[in-house]
Amino acid sequence: MTIVDEIIQLFEERGNGLYFGEQVTETEHALQAAHLAREAGASNAMILGALLHDIGHLLHSQGEDIADHGVDAKHEDEGAEFLAGKFPPLVVDCVRLHVPAKRYLCAVEPQYLAGLSPVSQRSLELQGGPMTAHEVAEFEAEPHFREAVQARRWDDQAKVVGLQVPSVESYRSLLEASVTE
Ligand SMILES: [Fe+2]
Ligand SMILES: [Fe+2]
Repeated sequence: MTIVDEIIQLFEERGNGLYFGEQVTETEHALQAAHLAREAGASNAMILGALLHDIGHLLHSQGEDIADHGVDAKHEDEGAEFLAGKFPPLVVDCVRLHVPAKRYLCAVEPQYLAGLSPVSQRSLELQGGPMTAHEVAEFEAEPHFREAVQARRWDDQAKVVGLQVPSVESYRSLLEASVTE
């Protein structure tokens, strides 16, 4: 099985649970994020970063109510490890940095926190809260921090109940063209 088959299977078989207390499924959330990226005219790597940002949630069997149990699953690191070496660094960084990007935006944009969904506000605490000034400086030293912040905004908007967007399968050729190994 190729990495692309594996990804598509993860979405199809494990992506149907609700996205951590939101009213869309994991797969709907991923597809909406990717669609927003595409509509914005983003690069292929950014579209895939948006599509795959939460793939870490599908790699383990922890329940969807994990935030209620006070556990931070570190899904961003699990997802990035899964993709590392198989997709371009920008794709991997959009995945790895999507939680830091939220903590970053909470620190640098006063109005950002208020715009997050209640679930996302609650998980922020588990994820370490807003970044400190030192963490902000470290984050801004990441080569892809701007892209990660942009991908985060699509992530935040990708929670629309009932929105019709293209399927996982429609990303197959883009995924296949982007595999680096
Ligand atoms: Fe996430
Ligand atoms: Fe997400």
